[in-house]
Amino acid sequence: MRTLSHLFENNRRWSEEIRRRDPHFFETLSKQQAPEYLWIGCSDSRVPANEIVGLLPGELFVHRNVANVVVPTDMNCMSVMQFAVDVLKVKHIMVVGHYGCGGIRAVVEHRQMGLIDHWLRHVKDVYYLHQQELEAIENFEARCDRLCELNVIHQVERVCQSAIVQNAWARGQELSVHGWMYSLKDGLLRDMDVCRTSLADVNPAYRTVQVEALNPQRPDAV
Ligand code: CO
Repeated sequence: MRTLSHLFENNRRWSEEIRRRDPHFFETLSKQQAPEYLWIGCSDSRVPANEIVGLLPGELFVHRNVANVVVPTDMNCMSVMQFAVDVLKVKHIMVVGHYGCGGIRAVVEHRQMGLIDHWLRHVKDVYYLHQQELEAIENFEARCDRLCELNVIHQVERVCQSAIVQNAWARGQELSVHGWMYSLKDGLLRDMDVCRTSLADVNPAYRTVQVEALNPQRPDAV
């Protein structure tokens, strides 16, 4: 099959359905996008960003990679973040992991999968930092799930460690960074309660902007 006609048929129906509800939807959207959210999630086909949070085209800026990893030398992810924060001025960045993540499982299994091992090495570092806690969990699935959560928490920190986010906070831009988990089993999101909203939330070792000069009253985060 060279043309995948069934997908074009799906696309035609989808476009018609949206235009039936709002005849000017695409015309209006084509002029500009103004999403309030940047979603950084896993590439897993079972974790479709817009559908999970019920947002339409134009409402969610999206970056996805295997195991939702934020790496400071990844120009793809950093470019997405920079454009989202500096140009689109999104108000929220959510790092969204999911239980049952194959990338995370591969890390827990300590097996080789090829080129992707280099990428998952970033998750391996999270494993190493929490090795004692993780290896105390006897149930394999539970151990994988816990690493999924710890990975999200660490990736939220990575987002906040970037100069992109810190500069936005330093100039007074409203921006929150969230860590969420998605369950493949019931389709529900869970907030990991690690929301970061200011420079004071960044460990001083990772600050590129001095918080003291901005707000001397605020106690440092640890
Ligand atoms: Co995944």
